[in-house]
Amino acid sequence: RRDGTPVVLLLGGDGIGPEVVEAAAACMQAAARRLGRAIRLEEAPIGGAALEMGLPPLPEPTLRMALDADAVLLGAVGGPRWDGLPGPQRPEAGLLELRRQLGVFANVRPVRMFAGLETTSPLRPEVVAGTDLVVVRELLGGLYYGPRGRRQGPGGPVVFDTLEYDQAQIDRAARFALEMARRRRRSLTLVDKANVLESSRMWRERVQALAPAYPDVAVSFQYVDSCAMRLVREPRAFDVLLCENMFGDILSDEAAVLAGSIGMLPSASLGGRVGLYEPVHGSAPDIAGRGVANPIGAILAGAMLLEWSLGWRDAAACIEAAVARVLADGWRTGDLVPAGGPAPGVSVVGTQALTDR
Ligand code: NAI
Ligand code: MG
Repeated sequence: RRDGTPVVLLLGGDGIGPEVVEAAAACMQAAARRLGRAIRLEEAPIGGAALEMGLPPLPEPTLRMALDADAVLLGAVGGPRWDGLPGPQRPEAGLLELRRQLGVFANVRPVRMFAGLETTSPLRPEVVAGTDLVVVRELLGGLYYGPRGRRQGPGGPVVFDTLEYDQAQIDRAARFALEMARRRRRSLTLVDKANVLESSRMWRERVQALAPAYPDVAVSFQYVDSCAMRLVREPRAFDVLLCENMFGDILSDEAAVLAGSIGMLPSASLGGRVGLYEPVHGSAPDIAGRGVANPIGAILAGAMLLEWSLGWRDAAACIEAAVARVLADGWRTGDLVPAGGPAPGVSVVGTQALTDR
């Protein structure tokens, strides 16, 4: 940019998407201001919001603005209003196309248990306390992209899906996860099924081949089935988990439960031309427009954006510290209140009040 001010494109989307993106934008601006910097925010329609304007789910100007931006922050797309539409015309098609166009190959989902929220998790507080892990999921290869089909066999219909990776795809994901581990607690676990799958054996070979360049990172290997158990028994054992596409899809949803509410979780899709940051949750039509959505997932996605796309780790740390402090002080949205009602010292507030805090 001529004046050096980074540009962040905000794509609110549908339901609570615009509400939480507004909250995240306010926090990014506040963190930047505190450090004497500036961000230029732009906005564009995507998903159902674009459809309502008579536009396709990913309008051409929205895509152009995304490719020209330094980073993109997206709320959520979709809702019952558009459920009857055929696939390519649905709001979700806009998000899938955006991810494809940006070329993002690594989906990053941090799962962190903040002090004070232990009783919101379905697991015992002493199990989830202190959880702080990241699932790195390869996003553009494997079973979801390989050849698939049905044919008539001699004994009846036959069906197949193909789990395929080339070495370059594995290497870029492995390097990405090793770098991530280096910035955290320097521990990487490759999740695989190397006792059965040839693809998993190659993932192991490549991680083993690349690991010597990261002597400060402790690398270990774990079968996906035993990892699934260990995640709910001993989540503190993990720092960075590297997964091929399908294992990462399943384990990241399993890990998400640890944090208590889906409203707490951020995600980033990285490695392409422009980073795409989103809360993990959807458009939550059941609570949209009521000002009660938990903005923390989106706010933490904003912190990831500042760190990973702008290189402002200090600004990201500022937001993370604010989130921890607000929770420690007892401020909660409704989704963080356990079934038995709020504990003493806890105040239940709306999206705006929590964001202001
Ligand atoms: P959802 O994540 O929107 O909601 C699941 C439940 O969690 C609801 O009870 C909701 O009220 C609650 N919830 C979610 N986020 C919350 C927050 N920030 N604060 C408080 N409570 C929160 O998932 P659901 O209901 O399966 O999907 C709703 C719509 O969102 C669908 O159209 C779906 O396709 C779309 N969706 C979009 C995603 C995206 O844009 N990346 C991801 C997941 C779903
Ligand atoms: Mg999934």
